[in-house]
Amino acid sequence: MAERNAQVLLKRRPNGMPVAEDFQLADGPLPEPDEGEVVLRGIYLSLDPYMRGRISGVRSYARPTEVGEVIEGRVVGQVARSRDPAWREGELAAGGYGWQLYSAVPAAGLQRLDPAQAPISTALGVLGMPGMTAYIGLSDIGQPKAGETVVVSAASGAVGAVAGQIARLKGARVVGIAGDADKCRYVSEELGFDAAIDHRGSDLGAALDRACPNGIDVYFENVGGAVQQAVFPRLNDFGRMVMCGMISEYNDREPRPGPNLGAVVRKRLKIQGFIVSDQRHRQAEFGAFAAPLVRSGQIKYREDIVAGLENAPEAFIGLLQGHNFGKLLIRLSSDPTR
Ligand SMILES: NC(=O)c1ccc[n+]([C@@H]2O[C@H](COP(=O)([O-])OP(=O)(O)OC[C@H]3O[C@@H](n4cnc5c(N)ncnc54)[C@H](OP(=O)(O)O)[C@@H]3O)[C@@H](O)[C@H]2O)c1
Repeated sequence: MAERNAQVLLKRRPNGMPVAEDFQLADGPLPEPDEGEVVLRGIYLSLDPYMRGRISGVRSYARPTEVGEVIEGRVVGQVARSRDPAWREGELAAGGYGWQLYSAVPAAGLQRLDPAQAPISTALGVLGMPGMTAYIGLSDIGQPKAGETVVVSAASGAVGAVAGQIARLKGARVVGIAGDADKCRYVSEELGFDAAIDHRGSDLGAALDRACPNGIDVYFENVGGAVQQAVFPRLNDFGRMVMCGMISEYNDREPRPGPNLGAVVRKRLKIQGFIVSDQRHRQAEFGAFAAPLVRSGQIKYREDIVAGLENAPEAFIGLLQGHNFGKLLIRLSSDPTR
């Protein structure tokens, strides 16, 4: 085991778009496991949009990260020390904590990983929280039916890619919205969406009209802002809007003026928010659905892996501007399974 831990701490709360100076690289002593805990050496750290909310200090459904603390994050790694009889050194697990190389975590919260079943990194992406978010949002709220039109924003991303592929498996016509020509090509050619639209291109509304001649039945909302404004008036009667996230607004200093929600009544729309962590008890249900589809290649995925914890702040700032292409992960240390 290395002598010291490496960590990224929250140095100060960002004002608008985060900058490198909001983060601080630090080293500290290795964590000591209590009885019933293990120390995990991180291999992959997941970077996710929700972290922007945690470092803002605004109280919401989860406790914010305080200034001076290690930033929250999910980690896949290898057991370096164990004080729990169920775990041996060298075993692979999901459930490490934070932007750091080593973490001491309760063994009860770990998920054992078998690299023969799926690459271990997928426990943070297509088979982890983002994939499950897509599954829950579509199963519980979107409920696409064969022949309906589903629009997914941030379509090449961790959540959007899975949401669109599941909707297609349900027989829907699926249109993805993504941030450049390469991402659009990936969404339509590799993931098999019926059409893809670049939201940075001109006249998103006209492009949606062309791609969705029968209007939109389900909108899987990942970005908010201008994309939401273009999609919203094109929702059909009894349309469903899966309110998953609005990343384009996470760095706003002031809340934007709200939409005119009169059409929600007029069109009997269903707009519902959800938080995937409320549905933790359904992880086995999600795994049973998704793992065979990922193994057979019916659900494809793409990872954007950045090497080195010291690059996490820059990668995270990039995520908030669309620089990532696929599920964003930090490689904390070498992956013994690849
Ligand atoms: N409700 C829940 O429980 C839950 C759980 C997980 C995630 N989420 C939400 O799901 C959404 C997607 O998360 P993810 O993990 O899959 O991330 P991701 O899509 O892998 O990465 C974020 C993507 O957002 C897009 N983006 C960033 N800034 C944007 C802007 N200003 N305007 C439009 N698009 C922008 C970029 O894609 P383009 O370049 O294609 O625009 C970027 O690649 C986020 O809103 C997140 O908060 C919600």
